[in-house]
This record gives sequence, structure tokens and C-alpha cells, in this order.
Amino acid sequence: MNKLIVILPILYCTSLAAQPDGNDKMSWFADARLGIFIHWGIYAVDGVDESWAFYNKKMSHAAYMKQLNGFTANHYNPEAWAELIKESGARYSVITTKHHDGVALYDSKAGPLNVVKSTPAKRDLLNPFYDALRKRNIRTGAYFSLIDWTHRDYPAFTKDSTRYAVANDPQRWQRFRNFFQAQIGEISTLYKPDLFWFDGDWEHPAEAWEAKKVREQILNANPNAIINGRLQGYGDYETPEQNFPVEKPASPYWELCMTINNNWGYQPSDQNWKTPYEIITIFADVISYGGNLLLDIGPKEDGTIPPEQVHVLKELGRWNQKHEAAIFGTRAGLPNGHFYGPTTLSKDSATLYLFIPAKTSGPVMIKGLKSKVTTVKVVGTNTVLSHKIVGKISWSPVPGLVYIDVPSSVHDDYVTVLEVKLDGPVSLYRGRGGLH
Ligand code: GLC
Repeated sequence: MNKLIVILPILYCTSLAAQPDGNDKMSWFADARLGIFIHWGIYAVDGVDESWAFYNKKMSHAAYMKQLNGFTANHYNPEAWAELIKESGARYSVITTKHHDGVALYDSKAGPLNVVKSTPAKRDLLNPFYDALRKRNIRTGAYFSLIDWTHRDYPAFTKDSTRYAVANDPQRWQRFRNFFQAQIGEISTLYKPDLFWFDGDWEHPAEAWEAKKVREQILNANPNAIINGRLQGYGDYETPEQNFPVEKPASPYWELCMTINNNWGYQPSDQNWKTPYEIITIFADVISYGGNLLLDIGPKEDGTIPPEQVHVLKELGRWNQKHEAAIFGTRAGLPNGHFYGPTTLSKDSATLYLFIPAKTSGPVMIKGLKSKVTTVKVVGTNTVLSHKIVGKISWSPVPGLVYIDVPSSVHDDYVTVLEVKLDGPVSLYRGRGGLH
């Protein structure tokens, strides 16, 4: 027995890997958990693939550009957009300032192609939206495509045609570089976004884009600006697109960007809507691995948001509001294997949240939890649940299994969340049993 007492303090126990600590410019992002992505552009007029429609030669460039004439923004209500985003629970929103087609949503002086000069919308669409977001304390994000397939000095045009090779005409490439960097400067000074969301960096290496300089340009204008990971190594976080991670991604900051149906922009032919349940379970998985979800909506050309997307945002918002404590400001949960489902931890890691999908009733189980459970409650209600410890052998370092009984009466419509209070910061056992 004496021997055991000496061994106990050095038993295998895992404290969680370093988590984002929130002391730097990334802190709001680490707490944000949910953002709303907006793909709005002339592609909504005919309901075709954003920019890719002409690049992939599904239609001619001329036919694609005819959509300029149909882009009215007639029912655009940026206050209502921001209100819906607020209602969803999102803490930030990222809108396409310019997609790969080169059509800017603001009056760029750097080039001629934008909705103010070339469409019946005839006005800056960004400013009122960013204002409406700021009024509601929602962080602002600017999606900006580095690629500009329409610009006459951009090398690529369609999938099987190019205008020129950068190596053969560095001056022409320099003209393009001046142009896109001028636009980034405009966006920085006009809108001061909290976040720059680049896209399309894959077409050229860091040196060609002058990625380091672009990063400096942005940070000179706003030292706190966050830059997504699509700037050839000069960004702040990873953006696994439409990819549901199976393991916790290695990078401390990451964001899953995902569509509600199968497309980024408005496409009435795509009725493959994810249900609120599906969105919520995906979201729970994302936060369990310490990421953010950037959930996309694609408004119509007139600025109307399709009802299916409104429905998802509202239901997600209802669920977020009820479970706020388990979602916002939490950190990644337990490593895989301790619980059959997503989990999160409070910042002090003394509260563990268990996400229970699919209306599961009966006992759920936590494995390898050294910390003592003090209370278990159903989040968003005052219901206290009982728990019991199974298989704890007095002389063994292996903690018992924690079984919690979940009655069907406490079920949430989508995903039920339990709050498990611990006697201190979470401590896990991952040893081999016996004396180890
Ligand atoms: C891809 C696509 C683009 C879309 C983006 C959103 O990079 O090229 O159309 O806007 O993903 O993440």
C-alpha cells in the first residue's frame, strides 16, 4: 500500500494541450465560434456558379457579364441582414467584396468593374452592411479574391486559355499587382474590416502576390486585423473548406467554411438544403475541435435571403441562445475517446459540456476522467441529472466511468447539452492501468 501512495502522484495523467489563451489579436476570433459568410454578386442573377461558370466554360464570359444588367439590389436591407446574423448567434460576418469574376461590391477607383458603375444597383453595398454589423457588435470581414479572371492584366482567363505567362511579361503582372494591392488599400481604409478573407492564392506563389507585403499593408492600416490562411503562408488561421474534420486540426486557429446547400451563391436549382439538425451537429463538432464555423448564405440579386437559409439561421440562433454558455467563449473539449460525442470546456476547464445528438436517452458515459464531478445539469434548463461512478477500484489509478442518466423529458429539439461541473481544471487519465 505504501508503495502505491508514492506512485500515485506520478501516474500518467494528461492535462490538455495549450489552448488559445486569448491575449492577442486572435482572442475575439477564438471566442467567436460562429460567423456568417455572404456570397453576393452578379452570379445570383442567373443563379450560376460564382465566377466559375465562365471559367469552367459553362457559359461565355460575355453571357456571364450580361448579368451586370440584372443586378438591382432592389430589396437590399442591410439592417435586416445584420439583424438576422445577430439572431443566428454569429459574432462575425464575411462578405464578398470582390469574387474571382472581378466585380467589386463597392465603388473601386482602382478599376472600372463594380456594382456602382456597372449595374442598376448603382451604390456601394458594403458600407451600410458593415455599419449595421458594427451597430450590433458583430465583427466585420472582407472576402477578397486575389484572382481576377476578368481583369485584362490577369494571366488566367478560362480553364483552357490564358492571356500570358507572368515570366514572359513581368511588367504586365506588375500592373495587375498594383491594381489588386490598390483595392486592398481601398478596402482597408474605406471599411477597416476586422478580418481579411483572401481566396484564390493557389494560382500564384507568395512571391508573385507579394504576400508578405500584402500582409504588412493590411497590418499597417490596422495592426489588429486578422488574415485568413489563403495568402500563401502569410495568414493567421486555416480554412478547411467544406471539410468536416475527423480529428482535431493541428493549427490552434481554424475555421470551417461551409455552404447551407451545395453552392456558395444563390442557385435556385440547388435544393439540397442541410437541415438545422445537420448544421447544429456539424457546428458542435467544429467547436469540439476548437474551430469556428463560417456558414454561408447566398442572397438573390435583389438582396432577398432565400427562406430556407433564413430558417436555418433562425433555428441555429434559437439553439445557440439556449446553449450560449456551452458554445461561446469555450475551448476545444476532450480528446477523442473520452466521450462518444462533441464536448467543449470552459476557459478555466473546470466545466465540461457534453453534446448529445439524436435525442439519445438513457445513460451516457465519460471515460478516463480523473477530476471529480460535482454536479450535472441540462444547459438552458434548471434540471439536475444524477450520475454514478462505475468500475472504480480503490487501489487502482484508473478513474471510474462516469454514467449520466439522460431522460427523454430533457431533450432539446436538436442537440441536448449537459453541463458537467468538475472539482477543478479537467484532469484526464490515459495510462495503461495496473499501477500506471
Ligand atoms: C473556393 C471557391 C470560391 C468560394 C470559396 C469560399 O475557393 O473558388 O468560389 O468563394 O471557395 O471558400
